[in-house]
Amino acid sequence: MVRRRQIYEGKAKILYEGPEPGTLIQYFKDDATAFNAQKRGTISGKGVLNNRISEHIFVALQTIGVPTHFIRRINMREQLVRQVEIVPIEVVVRNVAAGSLSKRLGIEEGTQLPRTIIEYYYKDDALGDPMIADEHIACFGWASQDEMNDIADMAIRVNDFMCGLFAGIGIRLVDFKLEFGRLYDGDFSRIILADEISPDGCRLWDMKSNEKLDKDRFRQNLGGEAEAYQEVARRLGLLPEDSEESAVLDLDSHRKKRGR
Ligand code: TMP
Repeated sequence: MVRRRQIYEGKAKILYEGPEPGTLIQYFKDDATAFNAQKRGTISGKGVLNNRISEHIFVALQTIGVPTHFIRRINMREQLVRQVEIVPIEVVVRNVAAGSLSKRLGIEEGTQLPRTIIEYYYKDDALGDPMIADEHIACFGWASQDEMNDIADMAIRVNDFMCGLFAGIGIRLVDFKLEFGRLYDGDFSRIILADEISPDGCRLWDMKSNEKLDKDRFRQNLGGEAEAYQEVARRLGLLPEDSEESAVLDLDSHRKKRGR
């Protein structure tokens, strides 16, 4: 068997050449990084959970008419996606103050924002992904004005949809990061949603307890990151209640209760 060609390796995913031209295989790793990879670790089973969670959200977004790169999930850790040219901008959408917004502007974490904020960061690890304004994007030609209009419109649609999706399972969508790509069709290209949507790039808080169910558990050394990702998948209905995973968890809590 011929070994497939690796196109790119990022911090949490690997991209391989796909079976047909214009497709890629997106492989989800268990590796976790934070603070521009100054902190590194692994979250056991994260890749499997993120693959399922991201599939679930991308499929749902497609049903409401948001174009995405997702084609289908192949196995536990891989999905088939359309090859795009990634726009070098990280789009962050915020509903509640947290993370770098709280730090930079001194707004208490957990403050509900009176309106949704969209921020842009230049995707460049060597520069530490600096925050940028529309002016920089236009000046350096990272995306056209039409493309930025599409990106902002889609980011708001994704936010509206995901706020409802997560509210329905008792989770507050605090903020999240999106990436977009250009899908070429001859001389023309259009913007579609790319990358992934998972607890790696979202802040998700339990509505009742405010418990963090996302990568902040890893960033802030809170522990229980695998369990948190599993809880998100479980609430989304992606882990059958009687699955092996939950059986193992039940057994664990049972043992703990009995002091073993
Ligand atoms: P921030 O508060 O650190 O700027 O993060 C905002 C959101 O974006 C948060 O949900 C985590 C996500 N994010 C990423 O997915 N990748 C990154 O490199 C950073 C800095 C944030």
